[in-house]
Amino acid sequence: MPVFPSATVLIFLFAFGAILAVKMDDKEIFAKTVYGEARGEPEEGQIWVAWVIKNRARANKSYWGGSKIGDVCRKPLQFSSWNGKSDIVVNDRRTYEKIKRLTDSIYDAPASEDPTGSSDHFHSKNMKKYPSWIRNCNEVKTIGNHIFYKSIRL
Ligand SMILES: *[C@@H]1O[C@H](CO)[C@@H](O)[C@H](O)[C@H]1NC(C)=O
Repeated sequence: MPVFPSATVLIFLFAFGAILAVKMDDKEIFAKTVYGEARGEPEEGQIWVAWVIKNRARANKSYWGGSKIGDVCRKPLQFSSWNGKSDIVVNDRRTYEKIKRLTDSIYDAPASEDPTGSSDHFHSKNMKKYPSWIRNCNEVKTIGNHIFYKSIRL
C-alpha cells in the first residue's frame, strides 16, 4: 500500500483545484464588471452601473444574457471590460474591495431600492460618437463620466 496518494489522484486533485480557481461566482463577476466599467467613477456612478446590470437581469431578456447577473455581465458586446477576455484583472485591490462591498449588497437588494429609475444602459460621455441605441432610450442622469439611460420599451 503506498503511503502517498498515487500520481493519478494527485493529477485529479490538481485539475479539480484548477477548475475551482477559474470558476468565478456571480458576485465576483458582478464586482469585477463594476470595477472594469466604473472604478474611476464616483461611488454613486458605481452604484448606478451595478443597478443597470441588476435591472437587465430582472428584465430577463435573452439579448441581455437572461436572468443571471453573471450571464448579464458577460453577455458578449454589452460591457466592454469583458470584450475578448475571460477575466478582468484587478490591479487596484483597495478599490475592488470597496466595489465588492457595494455590489454584494446590491446583488440581493429588492428592486424597490433601485435609485436609477430602472436605468438599463449607460455610455461614457467622452465617446466621439454616441451609440445608436440611445434613440430607443430616455436619458436619465449623468454621473461623473457616464450618461445613464432607460429603454423606452423592453
Ligand atoms: C427567464 O425567461 C425565460 C424565457 O422566457 C424563462 O424560461 C425563465 O423562467 C425566466 N427566468 C426567470 C428567473 O424569470
